[in-house]
Amino acid sequence: MTTTPLPAFQPPDPRMLAFARKIRDDADRLLMEHRFAVDEVLTKVNILREEFLHLHRYNPIEHVGSRVKTMESILEKVVRKGCLPTSDCIREHIHDIAGIRITCSFIADTYQILDALTSQDDVRVVEVKDYIAIPKPNGYKSLHAIVEIPVYFSTGPVPVKVEVQIRTIAMDFWASLEHKIFYKYRGEVPPHLIDELRDAAATAAELDTRMERLHAAVHGSARAADVEEFDSATLQQIRTLFLRSQAATPEA
Ligand code: GTP
Ligand code: MG
Repeated sequence: MTTTPLPAFQPPDPRMLAFARKIRDDADRLLMEHRFAVDEVLTKVNILREEFLHLHRYNPIEHVGSRVKTMESILEKVVRKGCLPTSDCIREHIHDIAGIRITCSFIADTYQILDALTSQDDVRVVEVKDYIAIPKPNGYKSLHAIVEIPVYFSTGPVPVKVEVQIRTIAMDFWASLEHKIFYKYRGEVPPHLIDELRDAAATAAELDTRMERLHAAVHGSARAADVEEFDSATLQQIRTLFLRSQAATPEA
């Protein structure tokens, strides 16, 4: 029996090995920075949500999702955009490695959340696209913002970009279906479906307007609910405390 000899072991070129290690370490660092940036923005969004609830007894945010692009997807975009696979080049040209999607109840909430987020001192607004005021030709609606926030490492702050998409439930419903159709047809959506999607986008927009109007009508007359704000035991204690505070306050 003859055996084919194994190829002689070739130690890798040390310079190539060092290059490979640098790419791997830079990629790990890049992804870590964007994970932390997502956490920072999520914390900001959660604070806004709770504060709104506290101030107005109303939650403007229905759902928050987030993702950090995979290295595979980043490299695919690097190739598409024709930039170099260095972290500096990636940082400069790819702004959606970190993404947050905020789904709001009503259109007014989307603008309010965008405003509250982008007016914070440590948030630098790189770009805002208002696809609600000016929808894409296919009917797509959303507010998009690229923001940059500092992430604090032991070596100091690193500015990291995050793409924030803010939309209503109706806009989100439309966008997720459109996305599925777009992928199913690999971008070559048949004309009748394009028309139907545009029509559905108009229906979604109409639903948003009607729901907002209904909400305003209900919200305006909801003061009766204030009576049920406190349970009877709490009310009893508050009454005692109120009377005590009145007795302790000298007459003016
Ligand atoms: P990318 O380079 O693909 O990120 O797009 P862009 O730089 O032109 O940015 P744009 O703000 O137009 O879109 C960014 C993201 O918004 C996309 O990655 C999608 O998540 C979403 N988006 C934009 N247009 C559409 C659309 O027509 N349909 C759906 N479903 N999503 C869209
Ligand atoms: Mg994108």
